[in-house]
Amino acid sequence: MFFTKYFSIAEMKAWSLDQRQKGKTIGFVPTMGALHEGHLSLVRIARQHSDTVVVSIFVNPLQFAPHEDLDRYPKTLEKDVELLKKEGVAVVFIPKASEMYSPHFQTVVEVTELSKHLCGNSRPGHFRGVATVVLKLFQIVNPHIAIFGDKDFQQRLVIARLVKDLGLEIKILAGPIVREADGLAMSSRNQYLSLDERKRACVLYEALTKALTMFQSGERNSARIIMKVSEMIDKVSPTHVDYMKICDAETLEEVWSIQKKAILAVAVYFNKTRLIDNVILSHPERSEGSV
Ligand code: PAJ
Repeated sequence: MFFTKYFSIAEMKAWSLDQRQKGKTIGFVPTMGALHEGHLSLVRIARQHSDTVVVSIFVNPLQFAPHEDLDRYPKTLEKDVELLKKEGVAVVFIPKASEMYSPHFQTVVEVTELSKHLCGNSRPGHFRGVATVVLKLFQIVNPHIAIFGDKDFQQRLVIARLVKDLGLEIKILAGPIVREADGLAMSSRNQYLSLDERKRACVLYEALTKALTMFQSGERNSARIIMKVSEMIDKVSPTHVDYMKICDAETLEEVWSIQKKAILAVAVYFNKTRLIDNVILSHPERSEGSV
Protein backbone atom coordinates (compact mmCIF):
# COMPACT_ATOMS: atom_id res chain seq x y z
CA MET A 1 0.00 0.00 0.00
CA PHE A 2 1.71 3.18 -1.12
CA PHE A 3 0.24 6.51 -2.17
CA THR A 4 1.86 9.69 -3.40
CA LYS A 5 1.06 13.12 -4.70
CA TYR A 6 -2.50 12.33 -5.65
CA PHE A 7 -4.10 12.85 -2.24
CA SER A 8 -6.14 15.99 -1.83
CA ILE A 9 -6.60 17.34 1.70
CA ALA A 10 -10.04 15.72 1.88
CA GLU A 11 -8.64 12.37 0.73
CA MET A 12 -5.79 12.55 3.23
CA LYS A 13 -8.27 13.21 6.05
CA ALA A 14 -10.48 10.33 4.94
CA TRP A 15 -7.52 7.95 4.74
CA SER A 16 -6.39 8.82 8.27
CA LEU A 17 -9.89 8.43 9.64
CA ASP A 18 -10.14 5.02 8.02
CA GLN A 19 -6.80 3.96 9.55
CA ARG A 20 -7.95 5.12 12.98
CA GLN A 21 -11.22 3.24 12.62
CA LYS A 22 -9.20 0.13 11.84
CA GLY A 23 -7.32 0.67 15.10
CA LYS A 24 -4.04 1.63 13.41
CA THR A 25 -1.71 4.24 14.87
CA ILE A 26 -0.37 6.89 12.52
CA GLY A 27 3.16 8.27 12.68
CA PHE A 28 3.86 11.54 10.86
CA VAL A 29 7.04 13.19 9.58
CA PRO A 30 6.52 16.66 8.07
CA THR A 31 9.25 17.73 5.61
CA MET A 32 9.97 20.21 2.85
CA GLY A 33 11.47 17.52 0.62
CA ALA A 34 14.98 17.29 -0.88
CA LEU A 35 15.24 14.34 1.46
CA HIS A 36 18.44 13.01 2.98
CA GLU A 37 19.40 10.52 5.70
CA GLY A 38 18.36 13.03 8.40
CA HIS A 39 14.76 12.91 7.16
CA LEU A 40 14.87 9.15 6.66
CA SER A 41 16.09 8.61 10.22
CA LEU A 42 12.87 10.29 11.41
CA VAL A 43 10.82 7.99 9.18
CA ARG A 44 12.52 5.00 10.81
CA ILE A 45 11.68 6.33 14.28
CA ALA A 46 8.08 6.82 13.14
CA ARG A 47 7.93 3.23 11.89
CA GLN A 48 9.21 1.93 15.21
CA HIS A 49 6.50 3.77 17.11
CA SER A 50 3.43 3.45 14.89
CA ASP A 51 1.58 1.05 12.60
CA THR A 52 1.61 3.26 9.54
CA VAL A 53 3.66 6.29 8.48
CA VAL A 54 2.73 9.46 6.60
CA VAL A 55 5.38 11.87 5.30
CA SER A 56 4.41 15.27 3.98
CA ILE A 57 6.45 17.20 1.45
CA PHE A 58 5.49 20.84 1.36
CA VAL A 59 7.75 23.85 0.90
CA ASN A 60 5.77 26.15 3.10
CA PRO A 61 5.75 29.72 1.76
CA LEU A 62 4.54 31.08 5.10
CA GLN A 63 7.83 30.35 6.85
CA PHE A 64 10.07 32.09 4.31
CA ALA A 65 10.73 35.84 4.33
CA PRO A 66 10.57 37.56 0.91
CA HIS A 67 14.40 37.71 0.63
CA GLU A 68 14.87 34.03 1.57
CA ASP A 69 15.32 30.93 -0.61
CA LEU A 70 11.68 29.86 -1.20
CA ASP A 71 12.05 30.07 -4.99
CA ARG A 72 15.33 28.19 -5.16
CA TYR A 73 14.61 25.65 -2.41
CA PRO A 74 15.87 22.31 -3.81
CA LYS A 75 13.20 20.04 -5.28
CA THR A 76 13.87 16.33 -5.88
CA LEU A 77 10.33 15.01 -5.76
CA GLU A 78 10.68 11.82 -7.79
CA LYS A 79 13.77 10.75 -5.86
CA ASP A 80 12.09 11.63 -2.54
CA VAL A 81 9.09 9.47 -3.34
CA GLU A 82 11.34 6.54 -4.30
CA LEU A 83 13.30 6.84 -1.05
CA LEU A 84 10.11 6.93 1.02
CA LYS A 85 8.70 3.95 -0.81
CA LYS A 86 11.83 1.98 0.14
CA GLU A 87 11.36 3.03 3.77
CA GLY A 88 7.88 1.52 3.80
CA VAL A 89 6.02 4.80 4.13
CA ALA A 90 2.27 4.37 3.53
CA VAL A 91 1.44 7.85 2.25
CA VAL A 92 3.52 10.71 0.86
CA PHE A 93 1.25 13.70 1.19
CA ILE A 94 2.18 16.51 -1.20
CA PRO A 95 -0.41 19.26 -0.88
CA LYS A 96 -0.54 22.21 -3.24
CA ALA A 97 0.16 25.68 -1.82
CA SER A 98 -3.15 26.85 -3.28
CA GLU A 99 -5.00 24.15 -1.37
CA MET A 100 -3.17 24.84 1.90
CA TYR A 101 -3.56 28.62 1.63
CA SER A 102 -6.65 30.03 -0.03
CA PRO A 103 -6.36 33.61 -1.34
CA HIS A 104 -8.25 34.81 1.76
CA PHE A 105 -6.10 32.90 4.23
CA GLN A 106 -5.44 35.04 7.32
CA THR A 107 -5.29 32.82 10.40
CA VAL A 108 -1.95 32.11 12.03
CA VAL A 109 -0.75 30.54 15.26
CA GLU A 110 2.22 31.78 17.22
CA VAL A 111 4.24 30.32 20.09
CA THR A 112 5.20 33.68 21.46
CA GLU A 113 8.17 33.23 23.82
CA LEU A 114 10.10 30.29 22.38
CA SER A 115 9.89 31.85 18.92
CA LYS A 116 11.69 35.02 20.02
CA HIS A 117 15.14 33.54 20.47
CA LEU A 118 17.90 32.24 18.17
CA CYS A 119 16.49 31.69 14.64
CA GLY A 120 13.31 33.57 15.57
CA ASN A 121 15.34 36.67 16.23
CA SER A 122 17.04 36.63 12.84
CA ARG A 123 14.04 35.26 10.92
CA PRO A 124 11.03 37.22 12.21
CA GLY A 125 7.78 35.41 11.43
CA HIS A 126 9.56 32.17 10.59
CA PHE A 127 8.23 30.16 13.53
CA ARG A 128 4.76 31.62 13.09
CA GLY A 129 4.86 30.13 9.59
CA VAL A 130 6.19 26.81 10.89
CA ALA A 131 3.68 26.55 13.74
CA THR A 132 0.80 27.45 11.45
CA VAL A 133 1.65 24.92 8.75
CA VAL A 134 2.42 22.16 11.22
CA LEU A 135 -0.89 22.73 12.99
CA LYS A 136 -2.67 22.61 9.64
CA LEU A 137 -0.85 19.42 8.69
CA PHE A 138 -1.70 17.90 12.08
CA GLN A 139 -5.39 18.66 11.46
CA ILE A 140 -5.23 16.99 8.07
CA VAL A 141 -3.06 13.95 8.84
CA ASN A 142 -4.43 13.49 12.37
CA PRO A 143 -1.41 11.49 13.58
CA HIS A 144 -0.88 9.81 16.94
CA ILE A 145 2.80 10.70 16.93
CA ALA A 146 4.95 13.16 14.99
CA ILE A 147 8.73 13.17 14.73
CA PHE A 148 10.97 16.25 14.57
CA GLY A 149 14.76 16.40 14.25
CA ASP A 150 17.06 17.98 16.80
CA LYS A 151 18.91 19.63 13.95
CA ASP A 152 16.11 22.21 14.27
CA PHE A 153 16.04 22.08 18.04
CA GLN A 154 14.11 25.32 18.45
CA GLN A 155 11.50 24.17 15.95
CA ARG A 156 10.96 20.98 17.94
CA LEU A 157 10.50 22.98 21.16
CA VAL A 158 8.06 25.33 19.42
CA ILE A 159 5.97 22.41 18.14
CA ALA A 160 6.05 20.59 21.49
CA ARG A 161 4.81 23.81 23.16
CA LEU A 162 2.09 24.26 20.55
CA VAL A 163 0.88 20.71 21.14
CA LYS A 164 0.79 21.19 24.92
CA ASP A 165 -0.79 24.63 24.82
CA LEU A 166 -3.55 23.64 22.41
CA GLY A 167 -4.11 20.27 24.06
CA LEU A 168 -3.49 18.26 20.88
CA GLU A 169 -3.37 14.52 21.38
CA ILE A 170 -0.16 13.99 19.49
CA LYS A 171 3.04 12.69 20.97
CA ILE A 172 6.10 14.56 19.74
CA LEU A 173 9.27 12.49 19.40
CA ALA A 174 12.77 13.78 18.79
CA GLY A 175 15.32 12.42 16.32
CA PRO A 176 19.06 12.99 16.86
CA ILE A 177 21.07 15.08 14.38
CA VAL A 178 22.33 12.99 11.46
CA ARG A 179 25.70 14.10 10.13
CA GLU A 180 27.92 13.64 7.08
CA ALA A 181 31.14 11.63 7.54
CA ASP A 182 33.07 14.84 8.34
CA GLY A 183 30.51 15.95 10.91
CA LEU A 184 28.53 18.53 8.91
CA ALA A 185 24.87 18.26 9.91
CA MET A 186 22.85 16.99 6.94
CA SER A 187 20.62 19.64 5.44
CA SER A 188 18.78 20.13 2.19
CA ARG A 189 20.57 23.48 2.00
CA ASN A 190 24.07 21.92 2.02
CA GLN A 191 23.78 21.48 -1.74
CA TYR A 192 23.94 25.28 -2.13
CA LEU A 193 27.53 25.20 -0.85
CA SER A 194 30.48 25.41 -3.24
CA LEU A 195 33.19 22.76 -2.81
CA ASP A 196 35.34 25.18 -0.89
CA GLU A 197 32.47 26.33 1.36
CA ARG A 198 31.51 22.73 1.95
CA LYS A 199 35.03 22.00 3.25
CA ARG A 200 35.06 25.06 5.49
CA ALA A 201 31.57 24.33 6.83
CA CYS A 202 32.68 21.28 8.81
CA VAL A 203 34.31 23.69 11.27
CA LEU A 204 30.84 24.06 12.83
CA TYR A 205 30.92 20.48 14.05
CA GLU A 206 34.55 20.74 15.12
CA ALA A 207 33.76 23.85 17.14
CA LEU A 208 30.66 22.33 18.75
CA THR A 209 32.63 19.19 19.62
CA LYS A 210 35.33 21.33 21.22
CA ALA A 211 32.63 23.13 23.23
CA LEU A 212 31.26 19.82 24.44
CA THR A 213 34.74 18.68 25.47
CA MET A 214 35.25 21.92 27.40
CA PHE A 215 31.90 21.42 29.13
CA GLN A 216 32.71 17.80 29.94
CA SER A 217 36.02 18.93 31.45
CA GLY A 218 34.10 21.13 33.85
CA GLU A 219 33.84 24.48 32.07
CA ARG A 220 30.58 26.20 32.99
CA ASN A 221 31.29 29.73 31.83
CA SER A 222 29.37 30.43 28.61
CA ALA A 223 31.62 33.30 27.53
CA ARG A 224 34.76 31.17 27.64
CA ILE A 225 33.12 28.41 25.60
CA ILE A 226 31.70 30.88 23.09
CA MET A 227 35.09 32.58 22.76
CA LYS A 228 36.72 29.28 21.77
CA VAL A 229 33.92 28.36 19.36
CA SER A 230 34.06 31.80 17.82
CA GLU A 231 37.84 31.64 17.41
CA MET A 232 37.58 28.29 15.60
CA ILE A 233 34.75 29.39 13.31
CA ASP A 234 36.40 32.72 12.50
CA LYS A 235 39.46 30.86 11.21
CA VAL A 236 37.54 29.62 8.16
CA SER A 237 36.21 33.15 7.45
CA PRO A 238 32.49 32.54 7.09
CA THR A 239 30.59 35.32 5.37
CA HIS A 240 28.66 36.15 8.52
CA VAL A 241 28.01 34.66 11.94
CA ASP A 242 24.31 35.12 12.58
CA TYR A 243 24.37 33.91 16.17
CA MET A 244 26.36 31.75 18.54
CA LYS A 245 24.66 31.34 21.88
CA ILE A 246 24.36 29.11 24.92
CA CYS A 247 20.76 28.94 26.05
CA ASP A 248 18.64 27.10 28.56
CA ALA A 249 17.49 23.97 26.69
CA GLU A 250 13.88 24.43 27.81
CA THR A 251 13.25 28.17 27.61
CA LEU A 252 15.98 29.08 25.09
CA GLU A 253 16.89 32.08 27.22
CA GLU A 254 20.60 32.86 27.10
CA VAL A 255 22.60 31.61 30.08
CA TRP A 256 25.97 32.92 31.26
CA SER A 257 26.75 30.07 33.59
CA ILE A 258 25.65 26.54 32.67
CA GLN A 259 23.87 25.05 35.65
CA LYS A 260 21.24 22.92 33.94
CA LYS A 261 20.70 21.37 30.52
CA ALA A 262 21.77 23.94 27.94
CA ILE A 263 22.13 24.16 24.20
CA LEU A 264 24.93 25.76 22.25
CA ALA A 265 23.37 26.84 18.97
CA VAL A 266 25.06 28.45 15.99
CA ALA A 267 23.86 29.93 12.70
CA VAL A 268 26.49 30.86 10.16
CA TYR A 269 26.36 32.12 6.58
CA PHE A 270 28.68 30.88 3.87
CA ASN A 271 27.87 33.30 1.10
CA LYS A 272 24.05 33.23 0.96
CA THR A 273 23.74 29.78 2.55
CA ARG A 274 22.66 29.83 6.17
CA LEU A 275 23.69 26.76 8.15
CA ILE A 276 22.52 25.94 11.66
CA ASP A 277 23.84 23.41 14.13
CA ASN A 278 23.76 22.76 17.85
CA VAL A 279 25.01 20.62 20.68
CA ILE A 280 23.42 19.84 24.03
CA LEU A 281 25.57 20.64 27.03
CA SER A 282 24.36 18.50 29.88
CA HIS A 283 25.49 15.87 32.31
CA PRO A 284 25.18 12.38 30.78
CA GLU A 285 22.58 11.33 33.35
CA ARG A 286 20.45 14.33 32.42
CA SER A 287 20.97 14.22 28.65
CA GLU A 288 18.07 11.92 27.74
CA GLY A 289 15.77 14.56 26.29
CA SER A 290 12.08 14.06 26.95
CA VAL A 291 9.97 16.41 24.91
P1 PAJ B 1 12.82 20.18 6.71
O1 PAJ B 1 13.94 21.16 6.78
O2 PAJ B 1 12.60 19.42 5.45
O3 PAJ B 1 13.02 19.16 7.89
C1 PAJ B 1 12.07 18.16 8.14
C2 PAJ B 1 12.46 17.44 9.42
O4 PAJ B 1 13.75 16.82 9.24
C3 PAJ B 1 12.63 18.41 10.63
O5 PAJ B 1 12.07 17.83 11.78
C4 PAJ B 1 14.13 18.55 10.74
O6 PAJ B 1 14.57 18.88 12.04
C5 PAJ B 1 14.58 17.16 10.32
N1 PAJ B 1 15.99 17.16 9.90
C6 PAJ B 1 16.56 17.92 8.93
N2 PAJ B 1 17.88 17.67 8.88
C7 PAJ B 1 18.14 16.74 9.84
C8 PAJ B 1 19.33 16.08 10.29
N3 PAJ B 1 20.52 16.32 9.74
N4 PAJ B 1 19.22 15.19 11.28
C9 PAJ B 1 18.02 14.93 11.86
N5 PAJ B 1 16.87 15.51 11.49
C10 PAJ B 1 16.93 16.41 10.49
O7 PAJ B 1 11.86 21.50 9.18
C11 PAJ B 1 11.16 21.61 8.17
O8 PAJ B 1 11.42 20.90 7.03
C12 PAJ B 1 9.93 22.48 8.11
O9 PAJ B 1 10.13 23.60 8.94
C13 PAJ B 1 8.63 21.75 8.49
C14 PAJ B 1 8.66 21.20 9.92
C15 PAJ B 1 8.35 20.62 7.50
C16 PAJ B 1 7.44 22.75 8.40
O10 PAJ B 1 7.34 23.32 7.16
